Amino acid sequence: MRRLQQLGGQTTAPSGDVVDALPRSTISTILRGSKLPRAEFVSAFVTACLVHGNHPPDKVAETTERWLARWRTLYAAEAAEGEVGETTDGEMTVEPSRAVNVPRHLPLDVGFLVGREAELKAADEVSRLQAPDNVVLVSGPVGVGKSAFAIRWAHRLINDFPDGQLYVDLRGADGLLTTESALGVLLGGLGLHEDDWPADPWRRVECYRSLIADHRMLVVLDNACDTEQVRPLLATGGRCRTIVTSRNRMSGLVAREGARRLVLDVLSAESACTVLTAIIGEQYVRDARAELEELAELCAYLPLVLRLAAVKFADRPGQGFKNFVSALRDNDQLLSLNLDDDRDSSVRAALESSYWMLDLDARYFFRTLALAEDAEFTLESSAALAGISVAEADRLTGLLESEHFVAGVGRSRFTMDRVLQAFARTMRRATCESRTMLAG
Ligand SMILES: Nc1ncnc2c1ncn2[C@@H]1O[C@H](COP(=O)(O)OP(=O)(O)OP(=O)(O)O)[C@@H](O)[C@H]1O
Ligand SMILES: [Mg+2]
Repeated sequence: MRRLQQLGGQTTAPSGDVVDALPRSTISTILRGSKLPRAEFVSAFVTACLVHGNHPPDKVAETTERWLARWRTLYAAEAAEGEVGETTDGEMTVEPSRAVNVPRHLPLDVGFLVGREAELKAADEVSRLQAPDNVVLVSGPVGVGKSAFAIRWAHRLINDFPDGQLYVDLRGADGLLTTESALGVLLGGLGLHEDDWPADPWRRVECYRSLIADHRMLVVLDNACDTEQVRPLLATGGRCRTIVTSRNRMSGLVAREGARRLVLDVLSAESACTVLTAIIGEQYVRDARAELEELAELCAYLPLVLRLAAVKFADRPGQGFKNFVSALRDNDQLLSLNLDDDRDSSVRAALESSYWMLDLDARYFFRTLALAEDAEFTLESSAALAGISVAEADRLTGLLESEHFVAGVGRSRFTMDRVLQAFARTMRRATCESRTMLAG
């Protein structure tokens, strides 16, 4: 880094956020020292040198990332030999190992993740710029690929968190793991035997926070239901990163805990076709590009639905691809897509698990949206359909939007994708819930 400073033509320390925050004498001590500086220092220092040398922004970002990658390798090597500590002046020190438990709980990385390069880059950027203890929330509609994305990203971050990676499936939409049970999984992951857990639930939370505070760990809280479920599980201490995935927008977490929210959208048409082709087989779709694109659209470009549809065809390819697509054209058939040997993998089951989390009024309102002539609606038109006031339609639309059942398009206009429209129709036919509560 001293050489970089000279090459940039600087004799004194360059300027930049973190660099400016440190006294000059501390900067030269870090540069002269033999210990590894903190990642934040390396990033700020390298960036400041390059900016001073008038390098273009993309070059600055790329070179800084190379330095950080090198830092991660050095850090991981030192952590493997002993515990990495930190002095007050921003250097890392290596102390003898305390024989801590190093959990490696991340599930297998999904081998096949299409069209998420931009989102992964955005997530890396968050990781680069945010303090590690910032919570990152991955939110989006049912089956859009939140868990697959978070797991892929977590695997990319492993070297930044050498003290271990904890993972809990909170089963937000089906079954719901209680916060207490999830805490048990986390404490177990940190090597604390059940007999040593404090009896009082809040003491247990404190115990978890104290244990994790000393380490650089990554915590993935997958499939969270709502803010209350995850709030006590957020790692504190400034060295850990928590990644939460949820169908819920979790505005409370963004407002109060300052979580960074990454909203995953459905795949592009091209990526959706790539997913279908990879599972179905090139030979079946080669002469049926229009049908392939139609199937991707029918599946609303949702990875879960695309995969189920593709596997359904691949199980019995004898019917012919064009026939298969035309049979599915009857929208509501999409909902019955499931895997014969896996009852949980069905589009309808995935949607229903979120639907039943809505309150009675929101469920009634959602079903009435099935009566809308097209996919878009306004607060006024939906209020008229449901026979309620515009203010009440506004409140209920907010609830549906929070669970990604509807999406805002421009000012006071909303839309529902075709899989959800089909689901609303199905639930409308299947339900006999009265609207008395809403009317009352
Ligand atoms: N970009 C992608 N490319 C290919 N397959 C994907 C992609 N994203 C997700 N999948 C696959 O789609 C299925 C659903 O993904 P995933 O479980 O991650 O969705 P989710 O948004 O977490 O769903 P839920 O709302 O139920 O939590 C999985 O089989 C996953 O491997
Ligand atoms: Mg998930």
